[in-house]
Amino acid sequence: MSKKINNIQEIKIYTKKLNLWYGKNHALHNITIPIHENKITALIGPSGCGKSTFLRCLNRMNDLISTVKIEGKVIIYGKNIYDKDVDEVSVRKKVGMVFQQANPFAKSIYENVAYAPIKHLLVKKGEDCDILVEKSLRNAGLWDEVKDKLKESGTSLSGGQQQRLCIARTIAIRPEVILMDEPTSALDPISTEKIETLMLELKEKYTIITVTHNMQQAARVADMTAFFHLGKLIEFDKTETIFVNPTNTKTEDYITGRFG
Ligand SMILES: Nc1ncnc2c1ncn2[C@@H]1O[C@H](COP(=O)(O)OP(=O)(O)OP(=O)(O)O)[C@@H](O)[C@H]1O
Ligand SMILES: [Mg+2]
Repeated sequence: MSKKINNIQEIKIYTKKLNLWYGKNHALHNITIPIHENKITALIGPSGCGKSTFLRCLNRMNDLISTVKIEGKVIIYGKNIYDKDVDEVSVRKKVGMVFQQANPFAKSIYENVAYAPIKHLLVKKGEDCDILVEKSLRNAGLWDEVKDKLKESGTSLSGGQQQRLCIARTIAIRPEVILMDEPTSALDPISTEKIETLMLELKEKYTIITVTHNMQQAARVADMTAFFHLGKLIEFDKTETIFVNPTNTKTEDYITGRFG
């Protein structure tokens, strides 16, 4: 592992003492974690420990839930995204998200990718847009499978293809960070492998944070791994260290399958 890993210049996102409540339920406790640029960070831990909640804090998706109260900071390139002068739409443009269930719009494959870039005025309809759609589908490893049927509905694709379409849709607006919440849990092993290979390619350009219940997946793709338990960050380290030589017995119990 390069020495740069500890260099502050390489930190894309820094959460500082992040706390979140759903009403009275204190779901995240003082989460301080550096997310390294152009790396894959995996969030692991038992169901209900706050992985999705934490992930949604990174692009202000929790703002959409009325009972939520957040304290602390999420600093992206030196700016706290919860500062009053930051607009959440601009945050979500920079920090895209892919969900557990592929959720393409009931529109054509082409429009699924083109919709957001046109809406955000990144491109106009026409040749530029065609180029962006092709590039995004290529980068998502889907182009060859769909290039002859771009007008067909996105929902007509297989689950694995739909998930890659959602990744194409996310990268079409040129985010800097991609959040993935259990992106392969609904997929078969071959589709899963395609997404994992894609993640490894995408980290060259993007910073990826992914939630997974699949320990092998975390070990295969992630550079860094964070173990959560009951809303607390128990351990965060290089993936190899978490899996081979964890410091905390709770981490060891979880990764060896003794609980969770
Ligand atoms: N929209 C919501 N409203 C109220 N409480 C919520 C909401 N979403 C999550 N919670 C609560 O916050 C805590 C953390 O949930 P979260 O969904 O972040 O866990 P998770 O680690 O992603 O679990 P899983 O592995 O099952 O997806 C749980 O106690 C959950 O009940
Ligand atoms: Mg979850």
